[in-house]
Amino acid sequence: MTNVFAIVNAKGGVAKTTSTMNIGYALNKLGKKVLLVDLDAQANLTLTVGIRTDESLNISDALTDGCKITDIIHKVNGVDVINSGRTLIEREHTISNSITGAVKLKSLLKKIKDKYDYILIDCPPSLGIYTVSALVACDSVYIPMVAEPYAWDGLSRLLETISIIKEEEINPNIKLGGLFFTNNSKNAQTILGKTIISEAKEQLGEKVLKTTIRTNVSLNESIAVKQNIYDYAPESNGAKDYMKLAKEIINS
Ligand SMILES: Nc1ncnc2c1ncn2[C@@H]1O[C@H](COP(=O)(O)OP(=O)(O)OP(=O)(O)O)[C@@H](O)[C@H]1O
Ligand SMILES: [Mg+2]
Repeated sequence: MTNVFAIVNAKGGVAKTTSTMNIGYALNKLGKKVLLVDLDAQANLTLTVGIRTDESLNISDALTDGCKITDIIHKVNGVDVINSGRTLIEREHTISNSITGAVKLKSLLKKIKDKYDYILIDCPPSLGIYTVSALVACDSVYIPMVAEPYAWDGLSRLLETISIIKEEEINPNIKLGGLFFTNNSKNAQTILGKTIISEAKEQLGEKVLKTTIRTNVSLNESIAVKQNIYDYAPESNGAKDYMKLAKEIINS
């Protein structure tokens, strides 16, 4: 059965895109069929896997019935990727106001789901229509978090949104898959960092995943050269940490 994961945090720069891409490629290394969906108008995932953002079609066309979902699936080193682009911003109002609005992504994915073991959706840093669409379409939510000041900003609203989506039966089976700390080497040593990590464990218990992603320069560099970490630096701590995380996720 296919598992659909939304990678969400309303806070920017917490490694949502880095995690979506590298958990996806780690799952692919483990023999799984993977689709990555870029749902962020910044199109960082699209660019990082090497798809141009001036491609004529992107996810916003499928969401507005301008193309079929199969028209925007790109094959990139063994993983399928649905690209994004700036038109997601221009069409946000139209999509929010259409009858199918937040359920359209779910119905699009339903048409192609069976081909994959895992579908990972990279969300924008907000709780707008696109993130809500991902929460409606997913089975589990994974939250990357950085143990820095303001780390909790927006998180309680996200957790509240997940409970509303569940309780109002918009997506009754939605689960919090887990929260994991990213870019963590420096933060884990500071008093503030330690406090944030222990608060997270107090509030979310076993939903705080055991694997943390260490700060790793190869992860940074791999993005600059538009490669996943397994092609760029397979022996790096970044590659090891994301593999450990992918295994923890599939075994949980
Ligand atoms: N473990 C890590 N070690 C070093 N750098 C990292 C690590 N994880 C992420 N980064 C860097 O942090 C920056 C932000 O990462 P990323 O773009 O994945 O965050 P994001 O949450 O998707 O951001 P946005 O909210 O803008 O979409 C990038 O430059 C990335 O290379
Ligand atoms: Mg991003």
